[in-house]
Amino acid sequence: MKPYIVGNWKMNLDLQQSTDLAGKILHAGIDYESVDVAIAPAFPFINVIKVMTTGTKTRLAIAAQNMSSEDKGAFTGEVSPSMLKSAGASVVILGHSERRQIFGETDELINKKVRLALGYGLNVILCVGETLFERDAQSHFETVAAQTAKGLKDVPLDKIEQVAIAYEPVWAIGTGANASPADAQAMHARIRDILKRLYGPVISNKIRILYGGSVKPENAKGLLHQPDVNGALIGGASLKAEDFLGIINYSK
Ligand code: PGA
Repeated sequence: MKPYIVGNWKMNLDLQQSTDLAGKILHAGIDYESVDVAIAPAFPFINVIKVMTTGTKTRLAIAAQNMSSEDKGAFTGEVSPSMLKSAGASVVILGHSERRQIFGETDELINKKVRLALGYGLNVILCVGETLFERDAQSHFETVAAQTAKGLKDVPLDKIEQVAIAYEPVWAIGTGANASPADAQAMHARIRDILKRLYGPVISNKIRILYGGSVKPENAKGLLHQPDVNGALIGGASLKAEDFLGIINYSK
């Protein structure tokens, strides 16, 4: 499966910093035959970065970090799927643990967003992951299985290939502590089993399952070479071009 490397810039970079970083990634000579790459700038910079890519041959995809669950209307401060598409995003990250934990997003809301985004032809990265409490209580497989199944509820067979799953253990995000390659593989295999049950073996083997949580150049190789780890969703290390590009190199 072609690896998929995604940089989640979160709420970190201003306009100048975002365009500088995008420029470095655009000019890095990434071989898009061997890897798919997306970056997720903040909403206001999606279009500026998309414009930077026009006229180039790059296949760098622009992702949004979130999206409204509504498609139009009086929802002050929200951003709709058609707005994202018209600004140049082709991907949206949904259900990130920061959205779940800080902004109270539920599996039901995330599922509504997933179905809406797919209906608009956006590709989705659906994030799932357990807290440290859940891992210590040995309920991590159950938690992630439920988040995966609820997030994908009523997503039809003909749309599921627009989805990638990102397993991001909450205790590993921004902490410097990553899951071991073996732990990541064990969870990814479970997620693959759920996909198999829902969509059958052929399709489930085409769905990429990314790992996220303190991925850096130093640990990327071990994680990315696990059979069911098909890419990475990277926060902190995606803010430095050399680290992000280093991880992309390890994905091959
Ligand atoms: P991190 O963030 O790489 O900084 O741990 C990952 C994420 O939240 O997607």
